[in-house]
Amino acid sequence: MFLPIEWLPEGKVRFLDQTRLPREEVWVETDGYPAIAEAIRRLRVRGAPLIGIAAAYGLALAGLAGPESGIDAWRGRLGRAAGELRATRPTAVNLEWALERALRAVAEADDVAEARRILVDEARRIHEEDIRANQRLGEHGAALIPTGARVLTHCNAGSLATGGYGTALGVLRSAWRQGRLQEVYATETRPLLQGARLTAWELAREGIPYTLIVDSAAGSLMRRGLIGAVIVGADRIAAGGDVANKIGTYPLAVLAGENGVPFYVAAPVSTIDLATASGDDIPIEERAGDEVTSLQGAATAPEGARAANPAFDVTPHAYVSAIISENGVARPPYEASLRAVCGAAEARAGALAHGETGDG
Ligand code: MRU
Repeated sequence: MFLPIEWLPEGKVRFLDQTRLPREEVWVETDGYPAIAEAIRRLRVRGAPLIGIAAAYGLALAGLAGPESGIDAWRGRLGRAAGELRATRPTAVNLEWALERALRAVAEADDVAEARRILVDEARRIHEEDIRANQRLGEHGAALIPTGARVLTHCNAGSLATGGYGTALGVLRSAWRQGRLQEVYATETRPLLQGARLTAWELAREGIPYTLIVDSAAGSLMRRGLIGAVIVGADRIAAGGDVANKIGTYPLAVLAGENGVPFYVAAPVSTIDLATASGDDIPIEERAGDEVTSLQGAATAPEGARAANPAFDVTPHAYVSAIISENGVARPPYEASLRAVCGAAEARAGALAHGETGDG
């Protein structure tokens, strides 16, 4: 399986620089958390679950750095590193989820050596659990794909966006293996082309047939009856089922509703934010305007053109047919069904703490 990030035994992190794809596969190795923070900010690593995993590894690097001073001074440094990592991108809740989980794990540690060991183990566990969660949600989601369907996806919610299998693309991978999927339609996903550069790259590697379309072609294809389902990932899902995901997701959901096409969201429970009631409360990242006024370094608009560049939008729950998680498929009303899949996650964590396997 393809892993976009790895912890190396010598206390370093290795990740694929996604800004260089598809032209070059450039792997970066670092032992410093500021390089991880920079990589998240610049989208060298991106996608909600992968941002969380990278942040946990970054925190582990921060924990390993510096002198073996007293635990209080060490905690002070760790807290500052967590603050820097947390500030890199605001929308994906997986980022703060992973940092909080890692900080909780070391809350009781008595000495620095023990705390360092715990931080590294916890980061690796977050990574491994994400891969398993994706595989499970892939199986749940594949059952929803009509046999012989062409399925449209937006942005990149694949191996490159997660610990290594994918959420929306994980479902499509599983559906392909089961012989249900005919073809994927991938939107190019302006402004940064995650669909064209990353989703197409992943699907080509795996031999899954795909057709790339410009974002604005989606409505026409749906109207012509060419799309059997739409499936996307998520950066944050509010308690009521509103979904923040890559800009352009909301219009796809409206078009799907208008054309009678099911609209599915695939995400692990680490993306569900029960503390945020509605999509209106989700912070939306605004990125630099030059991502809109240029394409891969070449200007596409006159000098001085003003651009708005919200990186995400919110799809109201009314447009979402189902939310696919590793603990099952949540259907409306989402208040109750999302609580149930998150409750199942807590029960699972409890069982794991008591030595059960966590599979199945
Ligand atoms: O700006 P990006 O590339 O990090 O945005 C990624 C997305 O919007 C994905 O759809 C989302 O994070 C889910 S990834 C499994």
